[in-house]
Amino acid sequence: MQQRRIGDTTVSAIGLGAMPLSTKEDRPGPEEAEAVVHAALDSGVTLIDTADAYARDEGEFGHNEELVARALRSYGSAPDVLVATKGGHTRRGSDWELDGSPAYLRRACEASLRRLGVDAIDLYQFHRPDPATPWEESMGALRELADAGLVRTVGISNADVAQIDVARSIVGPALVSVQNQFSPGWRHSRDELAHCAGHGLAFLPWSPFGGVSAAGSLDAAAPAFAEVAEELGVSVYRVTLAWHLAQADVVVPIPGASRAGSIQDSAAAAEVELTPEQLARLDA
Ligand SMILES: NC(=O)c1ccc[n+]([C@@H]2O[C@H](COP(=O)([O-])OP(=O)(O)OC[C@H]3O[C@@H](n4cnc5c(N)ncnc54)[C@H](OP(=O)(O)O)[C@@H]3O)[C@@H](O)[C@H]2O)c1
Repeated sequence: MQQRRIGDTTVSAIGLGAMPLSTKEDRPGPEEAEAVVHAALDSGVTLIDTADAYARDEGEFGHNEELVARALRSYGSAPDVLVATKGGHTRRGSDWELDGSPAYLRRACEASLRRLGVDAIDLYQFHRPDPATPWEESMGALRELADAGLVRTVGISNADVAQIDVARSIVGPALVSVQNQFSPGWRHSRDELAHCAGHGLAFLPWSPFGGVSAAGSLDAAAPAFAEVAEELGVSVYRVTLAWHLAQADVVVPIPGASRAGSIQDSAAAAEVELTPEQLARLDA
């Protein structure tokens, strides 16, 4: 599979978004979920995106991180995988809440370290700006986690251009990525994507198909993508990810999957070649 960079680390151009394995209503059982992660690894995927808050509710906080850690342990050979997790979202019942305070982020990071069973987290991403905590304070907390060696690199998520610049100045070279929503039907992060490309930061588009509930109707929602898929004889999902990859060489999509077939198909997107004319139609 084609490779890309996140900081100094080389990763597969297509990652696995592990969220649906925990949050999808009809999520697979534990063994089937591990098999999905194994299928991703078998397909050459070396980036897995998780978060402490990926769970059905507060009672199983950490569900997705534990699942990913278990699947990596049971894979057989020790795969060289970059595990990217996140902190800053809390759960109250099944609701999603925020806490970007430095004290909370330190506790959350330590809990993620335990669940992932590692000494340092490869990529620790601040999940979402918390309006109750100044952005600078959250960024200062991330810098401290990196300085203390608890995290190897830092990312931010759901950030605008101004927040990216503040993060660059406070976190320094440990900041390597930005994860924002970006899909055929949701392109509002274009400026952030271009900013990342200009500063050598990886850009991880989340919900590349519009999210778990919209992904099934991608054909109808993105007719130009369906048309190109038909021309190339591949799935609309592969064409979508190929379009993401063509935006800039810092882009590393993280399509979600709760079935092995989904990530196997998505992983092959790195091999799809779009002509300039096809790209222009998709960009329009
Ligand atoms: N930072 C943030 O705030 C944030 C927010 C949301 C998501 N994320 C991250 O982004 C990742 C991706 O987003 P997402 O999971 O919400 O949505 P998504 O990737 O847009 O859609 C996921 C769904 O697409 C289906 N799918 C994937 N590849 C397919 C293929 N090749 N053929 C057919 N169906 C396919 C899967 O179906 P099956 O379930 O049937 O396999 C899956 O449920 C998440 O897993 C998570 O890691 C981050």
